[in-house]
Amino acid sequence: MKAVLLGTTAGGGFPQWNCACALCVRARSGSLPARSQDCLAISGNGTDWWLVNASPDVRTQIASCALLNPGPGPRETPLRGALFTDAELDHTLGLLTLRGGTGLTVWAPGAVLHALRDQFDLRTVIDGYAPLAWREVSESFDLGGLQVTAIPISGKRPKYARSSTVDGPWVVAYRFQDPVSGGVLVYAPCLASWPEGFDDVVAEADCLLLDGTFYAASEMGSATGSSSGQAAMGHLPITSSLPELRRFPAVRRIYTHLNNTNAVLDPESPEAAKLREAGVEVPLDGTVIEL
Ligand code: MLT
Ligand code: MN
Ligand code: ZN
Repeated sequence: MKAVLLGTTAGGGFPQWNCACALCVRARSGSLPARSQDCLAISGNGTDWWLVNASPDVRTQIASCALLNPGPGPRETPLRGALFTDAELDHTLGLLTLRGGTGLTVWAPGAVLHALRDQFDLRTVIDGYAPLAWREVSESFDLGGLQVTAIPISGKRPKYARSSTVDGPWVVAYRFQDPVSGGVLVYAPCLASWPEGFDDVVAEADCLLLDGTFYAASEMGSATGSSSGQAAMGHLPITSSLPELRRFPAVRRIYTHLNNTNAVLDPESPEAAKLREAGVEVPLDGTVIEL
């Protein structure tokens, strides 16, 4: 199996359009590498590819990844569809860019399919250009030879769906297993707490991509100077997840969905040094993982 980290930041990206925090200023001037919004591409056979989440940056992400470029036929694309971990805008709006694509399938938890029809009707809009196949994820399913398992993570609803009374899970993680190589990759970009049973999922993985939105729960407030500061917004901060990750030194561990306030975006920061010392990575956009 091959996976490409197309984007590695939280909603807004790095730099964020309206942010003048010290980190965003450095990303804007080029002294830190810019990063696009969280999105993964995955393939079991190297021919058929799926996006895991479809970020608003998907047009440039596809253009900059040779593995996803169209051809050789004039409208031939290796992209077969997308899987959604949740219904957040930074994970779903990219579908609007893929409008008109034929034969695409979207897999998502039932609550997410509901939100994208009843709370924010992306599905009707997209289907007006070219109908997609919308599939509710069952516990386990086959994706072009990859074995996929959806792992319920939390009931965190997007803000636009806050009035929905539909039961979750609203957020899942995905476990991908290549039956030929045996490789296992787990993708969990939105983690509210360390879920029950997650130890076993991590222990059996070769590579874990985990929610690294915030280094500390308080950082939204300190970076923006807002005294009200939003707390961790349903994202387990690295200060809480790193001690968990330290228990799995044999697994390749990667933080993704980094918010622009997160000090680990600066490799010279003490926070980034702490990750290095724990053997945990924060690779840049475009990184390819083969398992
Ligand atoms: C999140 O990850 O919590 C959401 O993407 C937040 C947002 O879209 O504003
Ligand atoms: Mn997000
Ligand atoms: Zn910023």
